[in-house]
Amino acid sequence: MTNSGDIVEFLTGKRSALGVTAERSISGVNSLESADESHMAFLLAPDPSRLKASKAGLLIAPKELSGEGKREVLFTEYPKYQFAKAAAAFFPPPPARLTISPSAQVHPSAVIGKVGFNLVRGPGQNLVFLPHYAGVTIKDDVSIGANTCVDRGVFEDTVIGRGTRVDNLVHIAHNVKIGEGCQVVAGTVIGGSCVIGNYSFLGIGCMIKDHVNIGNNVMVGMGAVVIRDVPDGVTVVGNPARILT
Ligand SMILES: CC(C)(COP(=O)(O)OP(=O)(O)OC[C@H]1O[C@@H](n2cnc3c(N)ncnc32)[C@H](O)[C@@H]1OP(=O)(O)O)[C@@H](O)C(=O)NCCC(=O)NCCS
Repeated sequence: MTNSGDIVEFLTGKRSALGVTAERSISGVNSLESADESHMAFLLAPDPSRLKASKAGLLIAPKELSGEGKREVLFTEYPKYQFAKAAAAFFPPPPARLTISPSAQVHPSAVIGKVGFNLVRGPGQNLVFLPHYAGVTIKDDVSIGANTCVDRGVFEDTVIGRGTRVDNLVHIAHNVKIGEGCQVVAGTVIGGSCVIGNYSFLGIGCMIKDHVNIGNNVMVGMGAVVIRDVPDGVTVVGNPARILT
């Protein structure tokens, strides 16, 4: 538990800043959408409607939005960087919580729950890691092959759904959600926050750009580079991936 004034002082050297008037108890961090008044959160895009909708006790937001009249917001040029610094200082993350079904088979060389690769650039080109607070959930009858990595989530677990089979040497980044009964073949790289539906097949060495959604019963061809969402039931191939059938 800390106080919003302590955080503002840590980041700016001053006890109060434009937009931050009350000293609130802050007990942790959360995503913009899930944060309540006990949480610190950040907003990356200069989006006034998301700023207005935030219930965070202390929000760190782009300075372009400072005229919007919203309270309990620290406006800054580097919102995610400032958030990452304050989060690491005031709320150091606990070890990753791994929720692995007893019926899942995880090869001993797989690395489950490492912190994700989310670096934030600040002033002077400094890079800091965004702290990760969530873990990994691996559901019933999943198998994970040798030397595969499944990174922990930032605020919500990375999830591998029931019956999904993951081959060797696959990278599954933070916050990814894979549905049921999928096959993920060797060398596949799935970027952060992707959502894969049920019964889809990711062929040898394909790459899925971060934040892309892949539907149900999709076939991603060997070596495809998927940069856009893919609807249910199609086959995509190539770089950039296009619908084949
Ligand atoms: C995508 C895939 C399912 C398509 O299979 P298919 O329907 O039999 O397709 P075809 O071999 O008849 O090829 C159809 C066209 O798509 C192209 N194509 C097929 N697979 C492709 C791929 N992975 N990347 C780019 N183009 C591909 C072919 O060159 C052909 O193009 P053309 O009509 O201009 O000649 C298959 O090629 C593939 O990539 N399967 C995944 C393999 C894999 O991961 N195996 C692991 C098993 S554990």
